[in-house]
Amino acid sequence: MKNWPYKSFPTGWFQIGWSARLEPGEVKPLHLFDQELVLYRTEQGVANLVDAACPHLGGHLGRGGCVKGENIQCPWHGWEWDLDGRNAHIPFADQVHRKHPTIRVKSWPVREISGIIITWYDSEGREPTWEWPGVPEFDDPENFYHPVPHGIHQLGPFPIQPQSIVENAADPQHFYFVHGAGGPASIKEFESNGHHLRAVLNLTFGAEKEATWLTPDGPTVGELETNNWGLGLGLARFKVAGFVAPQIVAGTPIDHEQTYVFSSVGATRLPGDPDVPGGRAAKMMALQHEQITRDCEIWRYQEYIRKPLSLHETEQYMVPVRRWADQFYPDPMYRGRFSEIKHVPEPEEAVA
Ligand code: FES
Ligand SMILES: [Fe+2]
Repeated sequence: MKNWPYKSFPTGWFQIGWSARLEPGEVKPLHLFDQELVLYRTEQGVANLVDAACPHLGGHLGRGGCVKGENIQCPWHGWEWDLDGRNAHIPFADQVHRKHPTIRVKSWPVREISGIIITWYDSEGREPTWEWPGVPEFDDPENFYHPVPHGIHQLGPFPIQPQSIVENAADPQHFYFVHGAGGPASIKEFESNGHHLRAVLNLTFGAEKEATWLTPDGPTVGELETNNWGLGLGLARFKVAGFVAPQIVAGTPIDHEQTYVFSSVGATRLPGDPDVPGGRAAKMMALQHEQITRDCEIWRYQEYIRKPLSLHETEQYMVPVRRWADQFYPDPMYRGRFSEIKHVPEPEEAVA
């Protein structure tokens, strides 16, 4: 993104895959955070992420390497590395030299939560300082369709930054122009708490139409609740007339120019609904991928305006959100000028 001010990647949790898309024994080479990495699942089912270069002679563990029990084996000379990245086996070596646990390949923190695989990035290699709570709907198969397999897409690479996705919540005007809402969104709540940013916006769905598949009774005011945990994991939860569609939108840097966008949409499942989502649920899953693609098509040509013109009163949160986002970079721009964002409804506002 032209004029992007940061040189480093932000610290936090980032999506690297979906649990159901990584079978035991599977090995996947990844290029993320401008590094060669390998994601694999052991025979016992543990997902792990390690640097790709084997410490022996630099063979790429993800290019021909394989899972051996709970270890990953290098394709070149067969050295094995355990889940902590320690050397676990050197073939054809004598008793004394067949294992060197002090030699290590870097092993990254990995969690699998609500069917999403995430890793912790910190430019200094520090351990995670917080955990991701996940998405309750994704762990409730009785009442919701899980995004996998029908509601997931890996979009990109796009020349955008993960922060672009976070700034979306502070941009009520674009819902009319980019997403076809009946007008700009109105902000009901907006608050930050450490690494967590939450906003509630109201939007008119099915504007100017007598009936749509989502709004059979005509234009309906629905709610969009956005949650961001750091800059890597965002949840947009759409609620329209009793129907709920939670969408994880997760930006993961490939390098300093390119980002993948992982989109995972779940949807309300009513008693008697088929196993494969149809009707409203299927349409909502397709629609939300299209909507985030529209955002990405705008952001990909965006030039980063360091002092945005927030002239519209509804754009009051754009600069506070950027200051909030600034805390995750090791090279901050706004040092010392951050305070938590607090906008909770006034009593009369809540009633209206
Ligand atoms: S380079 Fe990996 S075992 Fe030799
Ligand atoms: Fe958007």
